[in-house]
Amino acid sequence: MSIELSFRDELAVLQINRPEALNALSFQLIRDISAALHEVDASLARALIVTGAGEKSFCAGADIKELMNRTLDEQKRGAELGQSVFAQLDRLRIPSIALVNGYAFGGGCEIALACTFRLAAPRARFGLPEIKLGLIPGYGGTQRLPRLIGEARAMEMVLTGRTVEAEEALRIGLVNRIVEAPLMDAATAFAREFTGYGRLALQFAREAVQRAATTTLAEGLRAEADLSTLAYRTADAEEGMRAFVERRPAQFKGS
Ligand code: CAA
Repeated sequence: MSIELSFRDELAVLQINRPEALNALSFQLIRDISAALHEVDASLARALIVTGAGEKSFCAGADIKELMNRTLDEQKRGAELGQSVFAQLDRLRIPSIALVNGYAFGGGCEIALACTFRLAAPRARFGLPEIKLGLIPGYGGTQRLPRLIGEARAMEMVLTGRTVEAEEALRIGLVNRIVEAPLMDAATAFAREFTGYGRLALQFAREAVQRAATTTLAEGLRAEADLSTLAYRTADAEEGMRAFVERRPAQFKGS
């Protein structure tokens, strides 16, 4: 298997492990990611960290050698497979963190975009270079990138294929933070800023924020009222408010 899934305390860690090809995504590797995400969803993990093996690369995108000489039907089914697996990542029950340790190009950048958060090592590099191959992004990049950084900047990245370094990625909102080594410790510390909170509240909050990109303000506000009511009726909300009044730390149980 070219991926490794491990569980460390309350965190799941999915590592793309094909460093000899800079962690490029074969179709089998994409299927393996899907199987791992099912396992994560069925686990008690409170957050998922996605990263790449080796010093150089998070993921250099779709496996270009495998992409060649395919029928149009195969190409379309390949794009649909990548899109559906990255949507599975986007819709995971728990928040996900892309820990970008090097190149995040093409499909690699698109994996990072499908995660809830992105952390960049100082050497991280982002790009959608498909245009240089005569292609366009096919695993969600044209849709998630403009939602994240706005149309003008996304259009520039997609049409020029240029590489964005970590500092610029931070400035334009492509990543949440730049983190220093040891990277896994930094990602763990970041995850622990939220993993102690109520599981359901985290889920409802994510859903409400995600709605902003796809609905009108009026519909989004209605969804927010519904989701905040769902959060209010959890045992964790009762505990959180009571703990505040009693001046003690809340003990969230995830219900
Ligand atoms: N597919 C297949 N193999 C890849 C690969 C990819 N995307 N990226 C790198 N590799 C392989 C190289 O072929 C090479 O293997 P060999 O030694 O067997 O030849 C090995 O990884 C190391 O790569 P380089 O020698 O090129 O390393 P470098 O440090 O000189 O360059 C790089 C690094 C700039 C990332 C360069 O490898 C590169 O440009 N890779 C392609 C990036 C790209 O275009 N990604 C988009 C792919 S298309 C896509 O993702 C479509 C989509 O939307 C899903």
